[in-house]
Order: sequence, then C-alpha cells, then structure tokens
Amino acid sequence: MKQSLLFFLFACVLTLALRTSTATPSLFTNVHSFPLFNSAETGLHMPALGLGTGFYGEQNVPYSTYPECGAEPPGCGPNTQKAVYTWLTKAGGLRLDCANSYYNQRFVAQGIHQSLIDRSEVFILSKVGPTFPLGYNETINQTLDILQELQTTWIDLLLVHWPTMKHPGQSDVPKSSDPACNTTSPLTYNEKDCRLSTWSAMILLFELGIVRSIGVSNYNITHLQEMIDANLPLPSVNQVSFNPYNYRTGRADLQEFCQNNHIQLVAYSPLGVPDVHPYPVTYQNKTLTGMSPTLLQDPVISSIAKFYNRTEAQIILRWMHQLGVASNPRSMNETHMKENLDIFANPFTINDNDMMRIANLAQDTCDVDPDWYECVGNGNLP
Ligand SMILES: NC(=O)c1ccc[n+]([C@@H]2O[C@H](COP(=O)([O-])OP(=O)(O)OC[C@H]3O[C@@H](n4cnc5c(N)ncnc54)[C@H](OP(=O)(O)O)[C@@H]3O)[C@@H](O)[C@H]2O)c1
Repeated sequence: MKQSLLFFLFACVLTLALRTSTATPSLFTNVHSFPLFNSAETGLHMPALGLGTGFYGEQNVPYSTYPECGAEPPGCGPNTQKAVYTWLTKAGGLRLDCANSYYNQRFVAQGIHQSLIDRSEVFILSKVGPTFPLGYNETINQTLDILQELQTTWIDLLLVHWPTMKHPGQSDVPKSSDPACNTTSPLTYNEKDCRLSTWSAMILLFELGIVRSIGVSNYNITHLQEMIDANLPLPSVNQVSFNPYNYRTGRADLQEFCQNNHIQLVAYSPLGVPDVHPYPVTYQNKTLTGMSPTLLQDPVISSIAKFYNRTEAQIILRWMHQLGVASNPRSMNETHMKENLDIFANPFTINDNDMMRIANLAQDTCDVDPDWYECVGNGNLP
C-alpha cells in the first residue's frame, strides 16, 4: 500500500515534469469543439467529433455481444493502429475515444506515433473499468497503466466507463481492494459508495494534473444526482449510447439534465452500430410496422439525406451536433472518416421540422436505467 502510494507520487512528479518539458497541450479552441465545464481545465474544449476505437476485430461479433476488441481478437491491434493513423493524417481528425477495456491502447499509441503528429495536438479520451475493477486505488493504478499503454504523460479526458462493478455483459466481476467495490464482501459492498469512492480518485487525478478533465459514461440521472447530493465536483462529460432510435425513449430527459448541470453529452454508437446491431423488425413473430433494421437504412433518414444532398451518416451526425451532442463514430474507412468530419468542413443546417422528424424515429426501448446498451426495440414505445 505504502509502496504503491510512493510510486503514485513519483508518477505525479514525473508527469508534471514531462508535461512542462513538452509542448503545451492544445486547448482545442481553434477547431469545431465543445467547451468543457465542471471538472475540466479552464478553457479546455473537446473536439466535437472523435474516432471510436472500440471494436476493430476482424470478425463481427454476433448481435448483442459487446462490440469491443475484447481479448484482442485477430486484427484488432493492426486495424486500430491503421484507423488511428488514417484518422489523424488523412482525415484530419483530432479526438480519439479509447478505453482500458478495449485492450488496444498500445496500438492507438503506435498509430499516433506513426502519424508524427505531436501528442499535444491530439485529444485523447480514455476510460477506466468495466472489465477492470472500480475503486479508489484501482482507478489510480489503472490510470497509470493507461498512461503507459498510450505512451503519454497525460490524458485529456478520463471517464468512468460503467457505473457499476457488475457490468451486465460480463460473467466475471473484477475483484477490487476497495471495500465499497468488493463484491465478495456483502457487508461493505455498496454500488453507490463504490461510485463515489471511484469518483474521489478521479478528482485526485484531475487535481494533480494527470488528467485534464474527468467524466463518466453510461450514467443515468440517479447516478449523477448522487454526485450533486454528495457535494462533489461534477463530471464534465457523460458518454452514453445516443442516436435517433433511442432519443425519445430515454435520452432526451438525460440530455436536459446534463445541459442544466453543464455536463457535455457524448454519443457512442451514434450510427446505431450498423455492422453489428440489426434492430429487431419483428417481435413475437409479428412484423413491427415502421421499423428499420439499421439507422442508415431508415427511409426517413434517407429521404432527409436526399433533400440536403448529404449521406445518411452525415444527417445523423449533424442532427446530433445541432442538439449540442458530441459523437465518436467508429470507422476503418478513410472515405467515411472524411465524410463524417465534412459536416464541419462543409456545414449545413437541418431545419426544425426535419430535426423533429429525426427525433421522433424512436424504435428502441433502451437503457433508461443502464442495464445493457444494446436495445430491445420491442415496439412498446411510449
Ligand atoms: N462508453 C461506452 O460504454 C461505449 C460503448 C460502445 C461504444 N463506445 C465507443 O463508441 C464508438 C462508436 O460506437 P460503435 O462502434 O458502437 O458504433 P457506431 O459508431 O454507431 O457504428 C460503427 C459502424 O458505422 C460505420 N460507419 C462509420 N461512418 C460511416 C459512414 N460515414 N457511412 C457509413 N457507415 C459508417 C462503420 O463502418 P466503416 O468502418 O466501414 O466506416 C462501422 O461499421 C466505439 O468505437 C467506442 O469507442 C463506447
């Protein structure tokens, strides 16, 4: 315990020394970005569109399997490196959406290294958990590991990936030394205390300057309210599954709550994971009317795309941007990456009527309380 504390303090001193000896990190104010508030360095902005780096395996995993690199399936590393390199050098993207549990951060680092772009010009978002344990020391130790994997001395934005130790997609619950997060100790285990203890470590990392901003992911209003009630500094970001199919069925309320508390919402799976996630169009052997298997094939999105002379993906990403939501679509395709960023290079405005039509496309009864980010779309929409 004492040793790990000493190592931690040494790492902090080293971080600050290295930070001051390299180029000053950019505040990203000169690009299309959203300002970060709450627990964020003053003036820090987050580039509005990032590259998702989860799920670069060679084989698509079956529907409802967590679409991340997991235990590094074949192709995950090289594909990640190539995508990061392409994103930074060919498409001109700046933000990378990483996570400890994507198991590919070493390849993200290689992609950045290969790009020859200065670290200070790249906005790196990473996450602690959920295949790694939450808890006070665990959060600090994971962050040190992440720094090493990403070959960097600071993280621009660090998130708590999942609000509970018991991630529904995992059979093994990771073991934590933090009593509040130790699921094998029923007397001390308490999910709320575990979240708050983890958050205290995040605050320390922020105060020490190892991370420039901190946030959460997959948190619902209750989880965020806990932080307010505990009088803790609030996250600058909440990253959740967000797209037109789950906007009206859970996300609109969360967005309003976040806006009121200066928490920037970030959309993951913004395009509805079209390669992995066919939305059910039948339920109990009945065909559901008006349902589309993927967002990119939705007839309303297609007709709006035709009207604005843009692609379906651009309509969805621009709709999100106009709602004030940042996003990080995953892509291995240079044309798609450029197309996604083109909504800023060649901006257009979706009119109010079309914004409403997209918002009303809901066909998911999604994770109002985070249970599993895949959605069931059972047709019983409110
Ligand atoms: N915080 C969390 O719990 C969490 C959970 C899930 C995901 N995430 C993050 O969010 C990222 C994105 O989410 P996701 O991977 O689930 O799904 P997504 O971004 O909605 O979908 C990715 C798919 O969209 C395609 N695509 C991208 N741009 C396109 C375009 N312009 N036109 C047509 N197709 C396009 C990609 O194909 P191509 O490769 O062919 O372009 C890929 O098949 C992940 O990589 C990860 O970083 C976070």
